[in-house]
Amino acid sequence: MALFARLLRNFVFDTAAPRVRWSRCVSRNTSTFNVCVVGSGPAGFYTAYKLLKDNPDVKVDIYEKLPVPFGLVRYGVAPDHPDVKNVINQFTELAHSGRCTFVGNISIGTQLTVDDLKHYYNAIVMAYGAKEERKLGIPGEDLPGVYSARAFVGWYNGLPEEKNLHPDLSGERAVIFGQGNVAVDVARILLTPVELLKNTDICAHALNTLAQSKIRRVDIVGRRGPLQVAFTIKELRELTKLPGCFPSLDPSDFDGIQPKLSGKVPRPRKRITELMINAANKEIINTEGLKEWTLTFLRSPVELLSSTDGTVSSVKLEKNRIEDRNGVPCAIGTGEMETRDCDVVFCSIGYKGVPVDNSVPFDSDKGIIPNKDGRVLNNEGEHIPGLYCSGWVKRGPTGVIVNTMNDAFATAHLILMDFNDGKLPVAEYSGEATKKLLPSIKGLDPITFSQWEKIDHLEQQRGNELGKPREKVISVEEMVTVATTE
Ligand SMILES: Cc1cc2nc3c(=O)[nH]c(=O)nc-3n(C[C@H](O)[C@H](O)[C@H](O)COP(=O)(O)OP(=O)(O)OC[C@H]3O[C@@H](n4cnc5c(N)ncnc54)[C@H](O)[C@@H]3O)c2cc1C
Ligand SMILES: NC(=O)c1ccc[n+]([C@@H]2O[C@H](COP(=O)([O-])OP(=O)(O)OC[C@H]3O[C@@H](n4cnc5c(N)ncnc54)[C@H](OP(=O)(O)O)[C@@H]3O)[C@@H](O)[C@H]2O)c1
Repeated sequence: MALFARLLRNFVFDTAAPRVRWSRCVSRNTSTFNVCVVGSGPAGFYTAYKLLKDNPDVKVDIYEKLPVPFGLVRYGVAPDHPDVKNVINQFTELAHSGRCTFVGNISIGTQLTVDDLKHYYNAIVMAYGAKEERKLGIPGEDLPGVYSARAFVGWYNGLPEEKNLHPDLSGERAVIFGQGNVAVDVARILLTPVELLKNTDICAHALNTLAQSKIRRVDIVGRRGPLQVAFTIKELRELTKLPGCFPSLDPSDFDGIQPKLSGKVPRPRKRITELMINAANKEIINTEGLKEWTLTFLRSPVELLSSTDGTVSSVKLEKNRIEDRNGVPCAIGTGEMETRDCDVVFCSIGYKGVPVDNSVPFDSDKGIIPNKDGRVLNNEGEHIPGLYCSGWVKRGPTGVIVNTMNDAFATAHLILMDFNDGKLPVAEYSGEATKKLLPSIKGLDPITFSQWEKIDHLEQQRGNELGKPREKVISVEEMVTVATTE
């Protein structure tokens, strides 16, 4: 990330740097080329960064539906992983560069449409992420006591729409479906001693609920086997080292796995499997008073069952075996069922992208905008001039911030190529969005970056009083009040 800052200095601020002048200009009124980015997560900011770095004549406006920026860096990344959030410093630097304008509290598709934006921008980049969760589609999924990991993560991170989730953690046994990094985040937050969380930016309401939590055992259930887990070694190692907690893995789950590790298995897969085997074979002398976590393999949930009070009380699982299908190890149900008691369930089987604007094509099966390398395609498979996508809405909800950065850079590179080739459409009022478009949106309060910084300042001040980095404002109304009060 030092590289990011260096590049930004060199290319964005260094006025002595050689300037590239394009022979063709797309805009009727101005030599500048204007891009609108929809979404202020890593995909949005990194697309803007690459555009600004590689062309000194570009200006970028980033529209965000919330009054606050940074997407999942603020509302997804776990509170006990503060280093990951350092990317915010680079995004802030970009927002201060004078060529990148943050337009918060404006939802594209509802308050403004992509057709509205086309009058003002030569290129529009959809970078709005994946806001929903994938569903299991089984009976009982909507029972009280069953939560999506997405909602739970949003709740402890202060996402306004999840502030009233009130998860019931009064029972001892939690089951998490899915074996990805989000599942591990949820398990770790449930099991970490509250004293270790209270100095993070986790929200006060979550800290209070976790302090009362009775959860003692967390079972992370995967439909495939140990060789197919989706979480990564750093995250698993953190779980194995949690104070006051032990891994309760069944060594027999790993029978026959060791010999398979000697072949062509990639090194990261080999190392994570060895870590699981070591954890399973580790002798724990005294488990009294300790909380525990476990991994269950080769089980698919088929039904969630309730007790007489209507809340979830058990889960029916089908045992699976692994079968190779075209080189992919697939989970195949055996028909054999088992039932396990539980008090609370978290479904962590991935996020899901949704359409936000009728005029932008959407592939509902894949949950992405149909595209070729970031150029949005119409039903005939042709590029819609001036329309692009980036990040999770481009490639689906997988990958860490670095993957999203590379993906955003690739999209920005294509936009610059299309600009260079004279393929970007002319926009009637290019460069005049903040003068003409935004003032015309009656009843809305676009929030600027400096207004967000007032919210940021207040959050840090409140956090300071509590001995934590920040205490987030969790209601949109309060955010707007703070931002707009002189
Ligand atoms: C729980 C969780 C934890 C994670 N932890 C890590 C981690 O520790 N390290 C790591 O490297 N990666 C982590 N990741 C992955 C990382 O967060 C993603 O790679 C990245 O955030 C994807 O970026 P994005 O910009 O595509 O989407 P997002 O970050 O979701 O950003 C999309 C933005 O678009 C906005 N938006 C949505 N709809 C509209 C609209 N209609 N109009 C305007 N704006 C809109 C949203 O409010 C949001 O701000 C985590 C992911 C999750 C889910
Ligand atoms: N600390 C970090 O770096 C961090 C933290 C959080 C998230 N992230 C990243 O964010 C991305 C999203 O993470 P994620 O955990 O939401 O997704 P993920 O990595 O795709 O994991 C999803 C899990 O759900 C399972 N699953 C999917 N459909 C299922 C079904 N119908 N029934 C049962 N199980 C099902 C998958 O199993 P199959 O493999 O069998 O499909 C997989 O185990 C990932 O790239 C992740 O690395 C990173």
